[in-house]
Amino acid sequence: MSLKVAFHTLGCKVNYYETEALTGAFRREGFEIVDFQESADVYVINTCTVTHLADRKSRQAIRRARRRNPAAIVAVTGCYPQVNPGEIASLPEVDLILGTAERLSLPEIVKRKMEGEAIAAPVNPYGQGAVFEDMPWMPEQERTRAFLKIQDGCNQFCSYCIVPIARGPVRSLLPGKGMEYLREIGRSGYKEVILTGIHLGLYGLDLHPPSNLASFLVDAVAIPGIERIRLSSIEPADFNDELISVINENEKICRHLHIPLQSGDDTILKKMGRFYDTAFYSGLLERLRRLMPDLAVSTDIIVGFPGEGQEHFSQSYNFVRESSFSRLHVFKYSPRHGTKAAEMIPQVAPEVKEQRSRMMIALGEELSAVFQQKFLGRELAVLFEKELQAGAGQDCSGLQRAGGFPGEYLLWEGLTSNYLRVRASAPGSWRGKMAEVCLEKSFPGYLQGTLISRTNVYEPTGHNNG
Ligand code: 5AD
Ligand code: SF4
Repeated sequence: MSLKVAFHTLGCKVNYYETEALTGAFRREGFEIVDFQESADVYVINTCTVTHLADRKSRQAIRRARRRNPAAIVAVTGCYPQVNPGEIASLPEVDLILGTAERLSLPEIVKRKMEGEAIAAPVNPYGQGAVFEDMPWMPEQERTRAFLKIQDGCNQFCSYCIVPIARGPVRSLLPGKGMEYLREIGRSGYKEVILTGIHLGLYGLDLHPPSNLASFLVDAVAIPGIERIRLSSIEPADFNDELISVINENEKICRHLHIPLQSGDDTILKKMGRFYDTAFYSGLLERLRRLMPDLAVSTDIIVGFPGEGQEHFSQSYNFVRESSFSRLHVFKYSPRHGTKAAEMIPQVAPEVKEQRSRMMIALGEELSAVFQQKFLGRELAVLFEKELQAGAGQDCSGLQRAGGFPGEYLLWEGLTSNYLRVRASAPGSWRGKMAEVCLEKSFPGYLQGTLISRTNVYEPTGHNNG
């Protein structure tokens, strides 16, 4: 009987990519992959440490794993042990720790541990010589979207952020390797790839000869089979003319950009050590939207940064409203040991942070609804991802059925290029297929529409995996 391994991932898209790569590594060593809810021989918790909340969730997952099987090996990896190896090592539930480097050695370390070897896998702090760790891309689960990490690390040291310590200096995957993986992704039937990185906009800067994200994208859009390329977070200062025009000129690059703002108040932005002000940010938004009117822009906002008074918060709140974001990720400021902001005074009281967070989250929901409603009556291409269980809390009443398709109709959900979540009834399996949908009704978190019966969109290419 093969050994069973289960994974739990916290944090960002990069972490999810790395868990997939680890999954492949364990599978190659003969392990069977099971759900985290099940009893397994090995549990791997891939942690995040961006805030104390992320730390707490990571610890909870560690405890859950131990409860499920007291005899299992519990291995903790990722940003939390990289930043704070002692704290993780002192948890009684933990057997093995590994930071954010040399992850692919984990299956072997686990096997040695199982054979009774006393292993102390050291977590080494990053130095300037760190290299990009190639974690080969492997098709894992039946998915419609594939993640690919092309960049790691950050040198920016914003005053609140522990990530440069957790991830080390900026480093990139070689463009040739990137294209090799993308061709494999295209061949495997994935229509969408999400390019991820910790500071993605700096892709290529460390390479010899140097490269950049714009030229990576120019090569990537030419790869057959891949119909959409989605970019994870890009810093405002990294949008140069070249990058903007490559995005604009290539429809395959999704009309959704995540551009972290952090605060809409210039005094706070300065204290955060951000390299732009609100005038620069709104100028960028204006330029992008003039070129791409359907563009969705989402952002990260921190509330309760040290010294954020009521007037700074109001300023930030109003700027966020004026910026018409499609979605907000709201974070309550969390002091991280070793960062500049942790020493700043005055720190904001927890109840004030809580109240501001609630207000900002509510504003985000309002802005998301406004953004969705802009598209009512439009026909947009949807990449279907999953079938929803009719009756399991889903409102299927009033769903109009597209004419012209034979077979039993099911409720499918997918995403548009600009990240609108869309539900439509469709016959048979539409997983991984694209079709145009007329958007008719807006609900919290999704739009409902009708599939458009056109033969040219029913089977757009021969590359579907549905
Ligand atoms: N406190 C709160 N939020 C933080 N982030 C990063 N560091 C902190 C912190 N100390 C948020 C930022 C970043 C996102 C990934 O996490 O908004 O963009
Ligand atoms: Fe969390 Fe940042 Fe690490 Fe991603 S890089 S897992 S957001 S600490």
